[in-house]
Amino acid sequence: MNNLIPEREPERQYYFIDCCKKIIAEKKAEIGRDLTYCVTTFGCQMNARDSEKLSGILEEAGYIRSEEEMAYFVIYNTCTVRENANTKVYGRLGLLNSYKKKNANMRIAICGCMMQEPDEIELVRTKYRFIDLVFGTHNIFCFGELLYRMLTENKQIIEVLEGTDRIVEDLPIQRKFKFKSGVNIMFGCNNFCSYCIVPYVRGRERSRNPKDIIREIEKLVADGVIEVMLLGQNVNSYGKTLEPKVTFAQLLAEIDKIEGLKRIRFMTSHPKDLSDELIDVCAASSKISTHIHLPLQSGSSRILKKMNRVYDKEGYLDTVRRIREKIPDVSLTTDIIVGFPGETEEDFLETMDVVSRVNYDSAFTFIYSKRTGTPAASFEDQIPEEVVKDRFDRLLALVQETSRKAVSRFEGRIMPALVEELNAQEEGLVTGRLLNNTIVHFPGTAEDIGKEIPVKLTKCMGFYYYGEAQR
Ligand code: 5AD
Ligand code: SF4
Repeated sequence: MNNLIPEREPERQYYFIDCCKKIIAEKKAEIGRDLTYCVTTFGCQMNARDSEKLSGILEEAGYIRSEEEMAYFVIYNTCTVRENANTKVYGRLGLLNSYKKKNANMRIAICGCMMQEPDEIELVRTKYRFIDLVFGTHNIFCFGELLYRMLTENKQIIEVLEGTDRIVEDLPIQRKFKFKSGVNIMFGCNNFCSYCIVPYVRGRERSRNPKDIIREIEKLVADGVIEVMLLGQNVNSYGKTLEPKVTFAQLLAEIDKIEGLKRIRFMTSHPKDLSDELIDVCAASSKISTHIHLPLQSGSSRILKKMNRVYDKEGYLDTVRRIREKIPDVSLTTDIIVGFPGETEEDFLETMDVVSRVNYDSAFTFIYSKRTGTPAASFEDQIPEEVVKDRFDRLLALVQETSRKAVSRFEGRIMPALVEELNAQEEGLVTGRLLNNTIVHFPGTAEDIGKEIPVKLTKCMGFYYYGEAQR
């Protein structure tokens, strides 16, 4: 049988998925019911997209999706960017173990960024023996093969690679939304911001070939997708490692030409290398989102240097000015870390100053979390908890005040909203997203989901609007 196993990818994975299909069909006949699965995602959009890849393989193998964690196969796709992400996972794993004790057919897998950390693998190996399968971010494309091993070997399987330069195309994917999709354009990160664990768990930067990206988007459009979100840790350095080199702006211009595609978003833009060429492409397009997520992290040039962010306060403000000059309606959002080692009150006030000057539409604020293995973990002057908490509260209050002002500038305007779902809180309302990423709730029905509808923005509620459809 062994010489029948293809060496090439993705053929090899399809071979194993086929083997799984037979095992799952037999199991289903034996227990007299469908085998359900549930993928729980922690963390960012990259992880959400990875979870869609896992779901695609599971459905191809014959598992049926379930929203409940009491499923026959449960996967935790983890995040490790801040310490509390890890704590959350271990808390929930205990509960899963109690379900498993009641169901001998249940299987549990854990994957994602947390599993790229040797200490965490050791913990699972020694203390969480009930977990059947562990894999990392670099071998997610082998999931078909790993699933087969899990179903046929009666032991805990741990397969984590330290790194990879591979990108495997054309594996099955199960999208969460019919009308929109994430699209990876690159993997990994080379920036090594001194607080950040991502370069260690996601590895070196690798860009996908533009042809593969375009082909994927064309296929998605043919399948009903009208909005794509281009994903990368730093999309602005897309293509630097490709031969011939391609810039992110050139890639965007090509994607802009795809017929039937109505909206293009991207995430995340590092302020150090946001080019004028990119701003021009965005300004010239009616499809590219008028939203740019531009993580500030700190407003203090001194702290930015210690963070290894490669820009300073003035450089950041200049980038904001360059963007606003060409895209006046742009919505800017950001990430900010409070309490980085050595942050003084003065440094913190520089952050507050940038927030007041930029008027972000929204800002994600984080308390600095020490990540073992990163340079900042060994920096002196870690900031006392009560000082950080006080700064965090002051920053949050300013963000709320300034973002309400920023978001409300569109009050009274009519803008197209792409309807994403029925509003879970208020019956009779649907929830849509404007091209600038702002959420609007307005009267509508399930029929509207996936459609672009012009909406009058009648009432700003802070981060979001209530509106009236102009049908
Ligand atoms: N502590 C707190 N926040 C962090 N982030 C990344 N690493 C850390 C850390 N160690 C934040 C940054 C980044 C976002 C995704 O998470 O603001 O932009
Ligand atoms: Fe982390 Fe910096 Fe890379 Fe973002 S750019 S993933 S913050 S190292």
